[in-house]
Parts: sequence; C-alpha cells; structure tokens
Amino acid sequence: MNRRELLKSIGISVGGTIISTKVLARLSDNSFEYSIPPNPLHKPIGKPVTAITLGAGNRGTVYGNFSAEFPKELKIVGVAEPIKYRNDKYAKTHKIADENRFTTWEHVFNRPKFADAIIITTPDRLHYGPCMKALEMGYDVLLEKPISPSEKECRNILELSKKKGRIVAVCHVLRYAPYFVKMKELIAKGTVGEVISVQHFEPIEHTHMAHSYVRGNWHNSKETTPIILSKSCHDLDIIKWMINKPSKQIVAMGDLKWFKIQNAPEGSTPRCTDGCKVERQCPYSAIRNYYDKRERINVFDLPEDKSKHAEVIMERLKTTNYGRCVYRMENDQPDHYITSIQFGDNVTANFSMEAFTSYAGRRTRIMGAMGDMVGDMTELVITDFRTGKQTKLVPKAEDVEGYKNSGHGGGDWLLARDFVQAVAQQNAQLLTSTIDDSIESHVMGFMAEESRKKGKVMQIKM
Ligand SMILES: NC(=O)c1ccc[n+]([C@@H]2O[C@H](COP(=O)([O-])OP(=O)(O)OC[C@H]3O[C@@H](n4cnc5c(N)ncnc54)[C@H](O)[C@@H]3O)[C@@H](O)[C@H]2O)c1
Repeated sequence: MNRRELLKSIGISVGGTIISTKVLARLSDNSFEYSIPPNPLHKPIGKPVTAITLGAGNRGTVYGNFSAEFPKELKIVGVAEPIKYRNDKYAKTHKIADENRFTTWEHVFNRPKFADAIIITTPDRLHYGPCMKALEMGYDVLLEKPISPSEKECRNILELSKKKGRIVAVCHVLRYAPYFVKMKELIAKGTVGEVISVQHFEPIEHTHMAHSYVRGNWHNSKETTPIILSKSCHDLDIIKWMINKPSKQIVAMGDLKWFKIQNAPEGSTPRCTDGCKVERQCPYSAIRNYYDKRERINVFDLPEDKSKHAEVIMERLKTTNYGRCVYRMENDQPDHYITSIQFGDNVTANFSMEAFTSYAGRRTRIMGAMGDMVGDMTELVITDFRTGKQTKLVPKAEDVEGYKNSGHGGGDWLLARDFVQAVAQQNAQLLTSTIDDSIESHVMGFMAEESRKKGKVMQIKM
C-alpha cells in the first residue's frame, strides 16, 4: 500500500466517489477547503536521518530549511559548495563540522561514507557524477530534477540504483502537492469516469522567464538542459502520472521567438544600467525587477544588513548576467513550446509552456467520459455529467503545521518528509517519485525535444 491508498476518508461524495481528505472548512454548499492528512505509514523516527548537501544554492536551502524546521527528522551533517558565502551560511545554519565542509562534490566521496543520504542540488550537468558515486558508496539519494540532461545517463542511474538496492527520490515535487495528490486520487477512483484526454498549461510568467531562461542559470540549453526538461519535466510527469498509461508517441513545436537581438528596441544598451533609453518602459528591465521591486533577489547572496542591499544589487546588475539586456544574451531556450502526446488506449494530452503571461500557476483540464475537472492549483472544480453537480476543492498546504515555507503547492517539504521516512524505514514505496516512477516522463522530454528539432513525430520506447 502507498500513501495514496491510505489517505483517510470522510463523507463527501463527488460523482459517487468519496473524497479521502481532511476537510478544514466548508466554504459554501459545494466548496471545501481541504488538506492531506498525515501519512499513516510514517513512523516515529528514533534518530534523525543524516544527509550531506551537494550545492547549497536555492534548492539546497529549501531542503536545508526542512532540516532546520524538523531537526528530529533530518540532520544535515555535511556540505559541498564552491561559493564561500553559501558554504559558510549553510555550515553555520546546520552547525556543520569543519571537516565535513567541502568546496566541490568530488571531495565528499574521498571520505568513507559518513551519512545516510546525499542531497543533490547541484546544477543540472552536475547530477550524474555525484549520483553515480553516491550509489556506488551505498548512499540513498534525493536527486533534483532533471535526473540528467542525457537519456543514457538517466538510464544508467536507474540501473545502478537497482543493482545497489538504494533509494533515488527524484524531486518531482508536484507529485506531493495536495492539489495534484487530490486530482490523482479522484481520477484513480473514477470520479470523472474513463479519462479520454488532458490539457495542461504552464504559464511561466514573463519576468520569471527573463530571470531564469534568458538571463539566469538555464539560459543556454547546451550548457544546462533544454527547457522542456529543466522547466517542464514536472508537467510531463504530472500528465503521465494522471493518465497512468504508457506514453506511445509525442510531437512538439516551438522556438525562441522574442528574446533575441532582432527585437532589441532602439536606444537599448548591453546592460540596463548603461543608460538604456527605453529602460523605464521595458517590462524586462533589470533595474525595475531587481532594484525597484526587489524580486528574485536571492540569487545575489545579499548581506544580512539590509541597508547595504541597494548598493550590492546595483553592483550585481553592473557585473552579472542579471543586469544584461534580455535581447542581447547568449540564450537559446524556446519561449513558447507545445507538445501533444498519445498514451496507451489512445488517451491524448496537450501541453503548452508559455513565457508570455502575466501570471504563473499550472492549469489543468481533465476530460473524462462521466465528468471533467478544471483547476489552477488554487482550486479544482469537478463537474459530474450525470447529475450536473459541481464540487470545488481548495487545497490548503500552508495550513499544515510547519509547511509555511514550502514551495510548489506544499510539495517541496512533503517530498522531503516522505524521503526521510523512506530512508529511515528503507522503503522506497513511501515515495511517489522514485527513479523508476520518474524516468518515463524524462524520456518523453528527450523525445519531445528531438521532435521539435527534427519536425517529426517520435515513438517513445521505454
Ligand atoms: N524541483 C524543482 O522544482 C526545482 C526548482 C528549481 C531548480 N531545480 C533544480 O535544482 C538544481 C539546483 O538548482 P538551484 O536553483 O538550487 O540552483 P543554484 O544555482 O541556486 O544552486 C546550485 C548550487 O550548486 C553549486 N555548485 C556548483 N558546482 C558545484 C560543485 N562542483 N560541487 C558542489 N556544488 C556546486 C553552486 O555554486 C550553487 O550554489 C538544478 O538542477 C535545478 O534544475 C529544481
């Protein structure tokens, strides 16, 4: 039995099925706020699971924060991070002994095994090396997505994890978000009858696109990973998880249409800080987004003293990619990308990844023979064709004690908690995103990219 099968039931019916959920409030006649109850398979942990974090950046900090909040469950005992500021901060937060602090991941494995698990939150191209080494040395692994930018390497990790009998949890965090857990559960119970097709939409939001995929770490697909994997492996994975049938073929289209030199406005300059004539009107202005609005400034490693922030941010805009003109980068990631997938039993799915939206938050429509579901991660509306009855479910991850700082609809820390339990109990079944469960959606991503580049429908072979 896994967590989905054990969720506690209470008496709300939708389309003849019971919703297994802890209802927090009835918002109106047909509208309920809910949370996912604690997993009954979780057991009290005698001593915390110990882990070494490789890469103390944004994601390393997310899982580190789980440990800081729940020290009886997870203890970070080592870190590898080349940026001194991050290494120092992480070591201080987790009281890591000096001998367990390393500059790069390789150094960790020069030592005999000294923790239960390795948390891999290094850049995309530095997942494979540490993951293979960790498995060889008998560590369990929490592995950020994408598993690897190469299909062969993904398959090698799967093979070695099986050979060594170790747990590899892929950070497909949306699988743990109460919103998607509920959607999955209702589909599995037949709430909308047989699923015929799915439409899924990922609005990236235009300034997020500019930050991460035009200026930021993932702007060049050859140096990192194609955007269909780096951004949308979550989405392909959720579609696959909902449909729960083998994927058969895939076709994709899209390109980089806007963020290129031909679209640079007259009067624009290499950096927004170079006296650009259109900076005040540009929605992508680095000065507007980072300096004026202070959005996404965690990438700047700012000092604790807030009075220094303005000066440091301006200095970063003058010296790093984050201050450069979005039309003059070496970026190649598509800013619009559509994919159609055919699954077993001829179930179909359409997926759109779009940069040019004013909003974020994935939208999903499930079309079943007896009903449909429409949701945007803040609410899920289920309509039963037989009765015409509509039910609205509003997930509440933040209200689950301790999950306040968790991202991805609550999924980040809920994954961390399941991972800790899986390691403590040595039972991979406590996870819904093991490497076995996750690899197919990665293969779908590789095939989508090949289809987009070759203009061909690709067969998916697992
Ligand atoms: N699950 C998700 O939703 C999600 C969201 C964002 C990013 N990610 C993935 O997580 C990973 C990390 O992303 P991030 O946003 O934290 O990036 P980041 O740049 O903030 O952090 C990566 C860290 O790795 C460090 N690093 C670089 N080389 C290293 C080495 N040789 N040894 C040890 N550390 C090294 C960097 O200095 C940096 O601090 C990426 O693979 C990314 O695609 C996943």
